Amino acid sequence: MGIPQPAFYIFKCEQSAPPGMPKPSCVTPQTQDLFQHLATKLMQEGIMGTVQPIRTSCMNRCSAGPLILVEPGHTMYVRLTKEKIDRIVTEHIIGGNVVQEFVIEDELWDEAVTPKEMQKQMGR
Ligand code: FES
Repeated sequence: MGIPQPAFYIFKCEQSAPPGMPKPSCVTPQTQDLFQHLATKLMQEGIMGTVQPIRTSCMNRCSAGPLILVEPGHTMYVRLTKEKIDRIVTEHIIGGNVVQEFVIEDELWDEAVTPKEMQKQMGR
């Protein structure tokens, strides 16, 4: 028997913009401890390992940050707070139910375009 795969990956955008940049970023002095909070929550629940938190750079939905992407499922949660993270872990990661009220709006997260379809659109 091999090493089990993680059941979930949670990608947390850790991009911060320099002060004065017009573009919003997911990490500000007010939100800089959210990744640590997520990791601590996973440890407290005893599920670190089968749930793997990953720090990432920008996922191009900056206006809705701070945000995480949960895989599998392609579920993006936005405008995060510690309280929201706790509920996402409890209700989605452990309970199996997506927390719809924290999911990104459809207009910011429409259906994916397959690579093959994109090539077609580019005339390749
Ligand atoms: S800075 Fe986080 S999505 Fe762009």
